[in-house]
Amino acid sequence: MNIILLGPPGAGKGTQAARLVERHGMHQLSTGDMLRAAVAAQTPVGIRAKAVMDAGGLVSDEIVSALIDDELAAMGETVGAIFDGYPRTAAQAGQLDVILAKHDRMLDRVIELEVDEDELVHRIVGRYSCASCGAGYHDEFHQPEVAGLCDKCGGTEFKRRKDDNEETVRTRMAEYRAKTAPILPLYEARGIVARVDGMAPIDTVTASVEAILIGA
Ligand code: AP5
Repeated sequence: MNIILLGPPGAGKGTQAARLVERHGMHQLSTGDMLRAAVAAQTPVGIRAKAVMDAGGLVSDEIVSALIDDELAAMGETVGAIFDGYPRTAAQAGQLDVILAKHDRMLDRVIELEVDEDELVHRIVGRYSCASCGAGYHDEFHQPEVAGLCDKCGGTEFKRRKDDNEETVRTRMAEYRAKTAPILPLYEARGIVARVDGMAPIDTVTASVEAILIGA
């Protein structure tokens, strides 16, 4: 099964994708994570992407689609794909169709996480992750069970994303409204869009997403 998780910054795409990976052995293809890894490694792609990401803009369609193509090529053919943060423009949606056909895959579902944008700023600004294993936490909604210790790996160092400040988040949201939301009608016309209330508690959102996958 191949699905797209769609929603503005902070909607919970990464949170839900991680759960689907853990529970169903699917593979998460997060262009945001791939780009951050490229920035950290100072690859040519990372060097080009850094300033755009720090400002909350979108990296070029060709770069992100090439990342997705490479990642799909490296994946087992039978492993389900979760596209997280991709596609984000009409051009990327077209490129994804070509890439999926090339890898003999079809798109089963596009799941839109519907959310309240003002609440999202609060979610994003409070977000942090384990510096060792990347497990995600939030100052208010999801703290480690033992303060200062990662639940998953016991790490004691945590980090925050550079683009998780209010000004950049507002720019990212404007980009979502202008360039990403308009691709939904394309998938609606194919009859594969399902909507989930992304403002519900994390477990409830997961249950809704799983119900959609069972019915897909
Ligand atoms: P990317 O990394 O994709 O960021 P994003 O889309 O802005 O999404 P986020 O990761 O911020 O949010 P999320 O929906 O995953 O929420 P999360 O689960 O963490 O992209 C970053 C940048 O890279 C872009 O700005 C762009 O520059 C570039 N880029 C990436 N892809 C690109 C592409 N395709 N084309 C061009 N450029 C690209 O949840 C957020 C917080 O809320 C967490 O703390 C979580 O614990 C909490 N939370 C989640 N769900 C709930 C809930 N139901 N209730 C309460 N709290 C919740």
